Amino acid sequence: MVDVRRARLADVPRMMPLLTGYAQRAEILLRTEDDVYRSIREWVVVETDYKIVGVGSLLIMWRDLAEIRSLVVSPAYQGCGFGRKMVELLLVEAKLLQLERVFALTRKPGFFLKAGFQLIRIERLPRKVRRDCVFCSIFNACDEVGVILSLKDVAIAGDVASSVAGNLNGSASQSFLPLNAF
Ligand SMILES: CC(C)(COP(=O)(O)OP(=O)(O)OC[C@H]1O[C@@H](n2cnc3c(N)ncnc32)[C@H](O)[C@@H]1OP(=O)(O)O)[C@@H](O)C(=O)NCCC(=O)NCCS
Repeated sequence: MVDVRRARLADVPRMMPLLTGYAQRAEILLRTEDDVYRSIREWVVVETDYKIVGVGSLLIMWRDLAEIRSLVVSPAYQGCGFGRKMVELLLVEAKLLQLERVFALTRKPGFFLKAGFQLIRIERLPRKVRRDCVFCSIFNACDEVGVILSLKDVAIAGDVASSVAGNLNGSASQSFLPLNAF
C-alpha cells in the first residue's frame, strides 16, 4: 500500500531523517524539525510499509506564485514515480489555491521538465531572489536551475479536487492530473 498525501504532525519525526540526510549532502537546504512542524500545512509525503519515503513542500511566495521545495525521495524508492506523484499533488494544491505559477530551483531540472515545467532564469523570479537567494552563501556561485509551470494549462478532474480538498488523501495508483494536462 502506497499513500501520497498531505503530511500530518505525527509524520514529522519520520520525515526528518530523509530531510536531514539530503541536507547533509547539500542536495537541499536544511529544514529543522521546528521549521517542519510550523510549516506542516505546506508538506506532502509518500508513505509505504509504515515508512515515509518521500517528502516535498509548496511554499507560497505571492498571490500568484509558489515554490516547490525540499522535494526528496529515499534513494531505495527513486524511479518508482513517487517524486512525480508528489509534484502532482502539490500542483493540485496550488490549483485549488488559484495560484497561477509554480516554480522550483533545482539541480535535477530533467525531472521537472518531464513533469511539464520549463526552464526560467533565476533573475526572472525577483521575489525569490529578494526573499532567499541574496541571503544564500553561494548566491554568486549558484548551480541551481530555475524551472516553472503555468497552472493555466493544468486541469484537475473534479473528483480529484474534492478528494484532495475533502479527504486530505491521495493514492499512488491514482493519477491526480490527466497526462495531457501539460
Ligand atoms: C529528483 C527526485 C525527487 C525524483 O524523484 P523520483 O521518485 O525518483 O522520480 P520519478 O520516479 O517520479 O520520476 C518521474 C519521471 O522523471 C524522470 N526523472 C527522475 N529523475 C530525473 C532526473 N534527475 N533527470 C531527468 N529525469 C528524471 C524519471 O525517469 C521519470 O520519467 P518517466 O515519466 O519518463 O518514467 C529524486 O531523484 C530525489 O529525491 N533526488 C535527490 C534530491 C533532489 O535532488 N531533489 C530535487 C530538489 S528540488
